[in-house]
Amino acid sequence: MAMDASQRITALDAVSTDSTTLFRVTNGSGDEQEALLVATESTDDERTISCWLNYCQHLTHIKIDKGTGAPMRDGELVCANHGAYFDADSGVCTYGPCEGAYLTDLEVTVADGDVYLTDDEFTYVGAGPIDDDDDLTSTSNVEF
Ligand code: FES
Repeated sequence: MAMDASQRITALDAVSTDSTTLFRVTNGSGDEQEALLVATESTDDERTISCWLNYCQHLTHIKIDKGTGAPMRDGELVCANHGAYFDADSGVCTYGPCEGAYLTDLEVTVADGDVYLTDDEFTYVGAGPIDDDDDLTSTSNVEF
């Protein structure tokens, strides 16, 4: 299957198992949202790439990756705000205030060593976080 070059997110090798790769997407209404890629490795070194919207399921406006990569612990994504853990493969919250809730998944496809966004509902915009003016006036990213 030929991949749409405009939907290439990054090289497969660039997706870490220790942190997240942040990028921007638009949905059907044209609103920008942030999404992240994360890799997990099975015992036989098989890499699995997962893609999730970058919003916690506890307070859904809170970003898991705040622009510098979200921490990973034993194959789980950590939301630093209140310590929720999300399984990086399934997106389910395994511990924390939103236990049992799922992150929103985006479909991605690996082809020829690159990762492409292949989700009908989202279009790739670019690497990195949304340039949000609100961040410039905020004194803290931590909300309770
Ligand atoms: S906002 Fe993520 S755990 Fe509370």
